[in-house]
Amino acid sequence: MIPHKTKKDMKGKHLIAAILLVFNHHLQAQVTKTFTIQADHLTAKIAPTMWGVFFEDINLGADGGIYAELVKNRSFEFAQPLMGWQKLGDNIPEGSLAILNRSQEKPNNPRFLQVDSNDPQNKIGLQNEGFRGMGIKRGLRYDFSVWYRQLKPGLRLHLELVDSAGNTIGEGFLEPEAIGNQWQRAQTSFHATQTCPKAKLNVWFEGQGKIDLDMLSLFPEDTWKRRPGGLRADMVQRLADMKPGFIRFPGGCIVEGRELASRFQWKKTVGPVEDRQLIINRWNTEFQHRPAPDYYQSFGLGFFEYFQLAEDIGAEPLPILNCGMACQFNSAEQAPLDELNTYVQDVLDLIEFANGDIHTQWGKLRAQMGHPAPFHLKMLGVGNENWGPQYIERLELFKKVIDAQHPDIKIVASSGTDPDGERFDFLNRKLRELQVGFIDEHYYRSPEWFLSHANRYDNYDRMGPKVFAGEYAGHPPQVTDGPLENNWGAAIAEAAFLTGLERNADVVQMASYAPLFAHIDGWQWAPDLIWVDNLRTYGTPSYYVQQLYATNKGTAVVPMLADGQAVSGQEGLYASSTIDQPNGELLIKVVNYNHKPVRGMFKLETGKKPTKEADQILLTATDLKAVNSFDDPEHIHPQTTKIAVKDKTIVADLQPYSFYLFKVKLK
Ligand code: AHR
Repeated sequence: MIPHKTKKDMKGKHLIAAILLVFNHHLQAQVTKTFTIQADHLTAKIAPTMWGVFFEDINLGADGGIYAELVKNRSFEFAQPLMGWQKLGDNIPEGSLAILNRSQEKPNNPRFLQVDSNDPQNKIGLQNEGFRGMGIKRGLRYDFSVWYRQLKPGLRLHLELVDSAGNTIGEGFLEPEAIGNQWQRAQTSFHATQTCPKAKLNVWFEGQGKIDLDMLSLFPEDTWKRRPGGLRADMVQRLADMKPGFIRFPGGCIVEGRELASRFQWKKTVGPVEDRQLIINRWNTEFQHRPAPDYYQSFGLGFFEYFQLAEDIGAEPLPILNCGMACQFNSAEQAPLDELNTYVQDVLDLIEFANGDIHTQWGKLRAQMGHPAPFHLKMLGVGNENWGPQYIERLELFKKVIDAQHPDIKIVASSGTDPDGERFDFLNRKLRELQVGFIDEHYYRSPEWFLSHANRYDNYDRMGPKVFAGEYAGHPPQVTDGPLENNWGAAIAEAAFLTGLERNADVVQMASYAPLFAHIDGWQWAPDLIWVDNLRTYGTPSYYVQQLYATNKGTAVVPMLADGQAVSGQEGLYASSTIDQPNGELLIKVVNYNHKPVRGMFKLETGKKPTKEADQILLTATDLKAVNSFDDPEHIHPQTTKIAVKDKTIVADLQPYSFYLFKVKLK
């Protein structure tokens, strides 16, 4: 039935028609720009490592994030031994829940809990709050484990997951069997009956007896590859979906430490988890306006797991090691040159851990941890954002030893915190003289900076060390609410800038956005690539930009010109083009950073025959301030349609503020 039209409806129709007319006129009046793509003229090769990711334990990236452990402070080693725990029970006799310290016997994990209960009627226990709660899924199995030694038998552990209202949403029991002075590991599993993003774990001690407990731990069964004690599968999947060429880890400033004592020491992060010495996370105290007093590094995600993660997602591992200098924004402590040996030895031993034969000391440990095959380490970073002559002096020492013993390992060296200025110029010159493998450049800048620097590498030295754009992100000015910083305005500026990296793929051979993850309830730094809570993740607009580049990188650059020139910002347009030789596919990327549409005529200069249709992938938003969110995770996401290829030409009306990728098969 045709609905009866009211006068109001008709008025509305006229108004819409008038708007469409103006809009059409606007479209007709649009600028036309011709781009020529010399598809048969292959220039620079694209390194398989070109687009990667950078993981740092910031914003609850590891503990409370990708490391799927649900219990916070599981071994009571935080500065306040019961942080994250709360005593349960109405009448807790003095000394019945005590923290003991066996620092001589086990210096890496000295503290443990002693439960001494004499009254079987008196229920006492501990509650763990998790990392901003525990994300629990209905129907899923949860694996609880604990180290114990039972001094007086008779206590059993009653485990209870409770939701925010205190309702039980899963329970299990653990009856320790062994008696005596030897530490044992026990495990039990149970299923959750409800989903809850902020559950807590109650551990009740029932009966009477005396028991020592340590490493109280709870993991979901659905970890990445179902590895016990493993990583959050949804977060790893986000990385795998990007098909990154490399993964840089573990930092970032976390490598440097606020002082040398709290630097990242990889050797303390391998071997049995219960022997990995916990330290404070530097982001715990770094920003006064975003305090995170419960932020520690348990190193459950340690160097073995980082290498394994790299292998799982098909990325080259790129570990960064301390160069003998703590963060120069903090203590700026330095190891004297004649005491640098420990630091250099850490590098040599890491190479052995990753690549060495299983009969070597560190290769053997790798094998014992379950990976006899080498991890094929090819590059490593010496220092993060270090600078000044002190850095160069130290780097020289590292380089001499690494070059002599492992000439096949490429060294990635720091060019400081900024992509310009005196410090940068000094380092850039020195690192080129030193002929390091890669110069690691960082740029946290406004979107305008990215837009106006798309030609940064057009005139770079082609012969010297390669560039690694190791950390970058567009920081929108005047936005201070973390997730809102990841807006479309920043992402499209990054997309524009990256055309310049791609066009100069002979110079820039690796690039990674930073930081990677942020927990909505525990972040210190924004913008970030992927936001998570205890149960969900979403990719920011920048994530989709990265993903489009990484999954459509091609194997060689082909020139793309407008008015005879590379397209790097003239009239608000940015473009680059590559060819994927094995797939016979031409990949054209173009950004229209204009408030008006632009008609793009893409002329393919090729002796080959393009198919009649190409894939058109569009990433756009109507508002530069638009963001993705947990409520609308795909508000901005790539949309794929088809577009005609006629007479070796694509004609596309490029929407305002849009990023396009055209994929054309050539036969
Ligand atoms: O990505 C966050 C921080 O930014 C990194 O730790 C550091 O390298 C940079 O300053």
